[in-house]
Amino acid sequence: MQQPAWPDAEEVARVLGEIKSLPPLVTSGEISSLKSQFAQAARGERFVLHGGDCAESFDSCRPNAITNQLKILLQMSLVLTHASGKRVIRIGRFAGQYAKPRSAEHEVRGGVSLHSYRGDNVNRPEFTAEARTPNPQLLLRGYERSALTLNFIRALVDGGFADLHHPEQWNLDWVSHSPLAAEYTRMVDAIGQGLRFMETLAGVQVHQMQRVDFYTSHECLLLDLEEAQTREVPRRTGWWNLSTHFPWLGARTSQIDGAHAEYLRGIENPIGVKVGPDHHVQDVLSICELLNPTREEGRIVLIHRFGAHQIAAKLPALIDGIASAQCPVLWICDPMHGNTETVIPQSGAGSGVAIKTRKFAHILAELEQAFEIHAAKGSLLGGVHFELSGEDVSECTGGARGLADSDLARAYQTTVDPRLNYEQALEMALLVARRVGRHR
Ligand code: PEP
Ligand code: CO
Repeated sequence: MQQPAWPDAEEVARVLGEIKSLPPLVTSGEISSLKSQFAQAARGERFVLHGGDCAESFDSCRPNAITNQLKILLQMSLVLTHASGKRVIRIGRFAGQYAKPRSAEHEVRGGVSLHSYRGDNVNRPEFTAEARTPNPQLLLRGYERSALTLNFIRALVDGGFADLHHPEQWNLDWVSHSPLAAEYTRMVDAIGQGLRFMETLAGVQVHQMQRVDFYTSHECLLLDLEEAQTREVPRRTGWWNLSTHFPWLGARTSQIDGAHAEYLRGIENPIGVKVGPDHHVQDVLSICELLNPTREEGRIVLIHRFGAHQIAAKLPALIDGIASAQCPVLWICDPMHGNTETVIPQSGAGSGVAIKTRKFAHILAELEQAFEIHAAKGSLLGGVHFELSGEDVSECTGGARGLADSDLARAYQTTVDPRLNYEQALEMALLVARRVGRHR
């Protein structure tokens, strides 16, 4: 399912042959340490923050965009660490999130039918025949962009990323627009005080105490490409997907007898499994059994994305099913993909044109229910998954500044799904923190 209609099979084989011969992007050691951290998160000892673009684009492989993405993830993780008292595992949807599943093979505009845009690894978003024709050379460009992105991330992590820990450096102008301004200010002040106390005690700056790790992830979609980067490594058993730490199985490709499940069953990486309202509990149990027959802890992360209006009806039975099958899983809530809607703004720039968006209130409502349902069932929500940008985009509505449909056209940049912007993402982290907070 979801494989591109490449026009020239020989060229695809040549490109994949080259990718096979190039160095891996991540190591098996990093992958196994992430897996053991997932096992800890499933026991409640850590919390996961998984976020980034819906579709990364080659054009946004730029220093500022990458720095801003790390910055928002780091700031959110500090807010969550402070509230939960747990170390946060930071995972980006980056350095390889270049392929997208699509519900239709073709897109029709004004009577013209072209291939749907399937991510920058496959074709380009512009609506021209040339841009939309799948081009295997893009796979090489994607491999290179992933390496460039990861190289810069590793460099930032090793130095130069220091001052971002302190809330004095954060952009908090938006806070005053919220009815919760006083509470947000108290939370942020407490984080600053906590950091200063720790630094005084240790006699060093916080960034010198502990390395800030970021792990990478992307949807495991283009199987030939994933396979070209799947290797054996010295002194370890099994096959490792060395293009990313954490591949996930998308909601559209999780058929039990499908090729994606078959591929993923053969690799050692931890695997994310998206679960939506159309999945039957029995099918999810079968996928867990197939991917994790030995019931290894940290191997499976169930990422549920039911939508604010369906989670209450769907999640409890899934939790019961997993508990009775005794599959060890880490639960994460993706409050984005079940809450997408199409609106036609009636005023502002771009009015009259249909646009995909999500409401901040729906995203929050799904998350709040997720925490409650897991707690009521004696289960544990071990993390959150967001589509977000470190930039001032206008793709989701709501939040402290109350973005409206008529604001969407101002800075609508995503090529696929709408993301929380910098302010909305930080606000969401503060709201999640209120819920998981020890101090509530
Ligand atoms: C995504 O994460 O961008 C995505 C397509 O999600 P899902 O498979 O859950 O719809
Ligand atoms: Co998406």
